[in-house]
Amino acid sequence: MPGRPAPSRRTVLRGAALAPVAGLGAAACSPGGSTEPAQPTAPVDLGAESEVPRGGAALYRDHNVVVSRGEDGTFAAYSTICTHARCPINKLEGTTLICPCHGSEFDAATGEVLREPATVPLAALRVEVKDGRIVAGPDA
Ligand code: FES
Repeated sequence: MPGRPAPSRRTVLRGAALAPVAGLGAAACSPGGSTEPAQPTAPVDLGAESEVPRGGAALYRDHNVVVSRGEDGTFAAYSTICTHARCPINKLEGTTLICPCHGSEFDAATGEVLREPATVPLAALRVEVKDGRIVAGPDA
């Protein structure tokens, strides 16, 4: 006799409830870094060479640069972005730079660390005098 009871049993799985809800909290990846203080990426005119006395230093806060001058008249320049946690250093006492964030100190004549927590010297910049003006920029 024909007439099979064709047992076409289909179990339709509606699996929607099992789909994991992924990554809803992971989308907040901002480009970041845009407000970070920066050392010069191009040569900047800092001012008259006479502003830096022999054996002294001058801090150019607007450019995050310190320029020092040896007794022999030789100039040196360093970025004043602290190597500890990248705060801009805003204080110069004699030739000692003092970071406002955690108190690291640096020698403006050499860039060396005088006081921790920083352990890495300041980044050296290129400096030259053009027509009596100090021009500092990234080390080429
Ligand atoms: Fe300068 Fe920490 S950022 S001491």
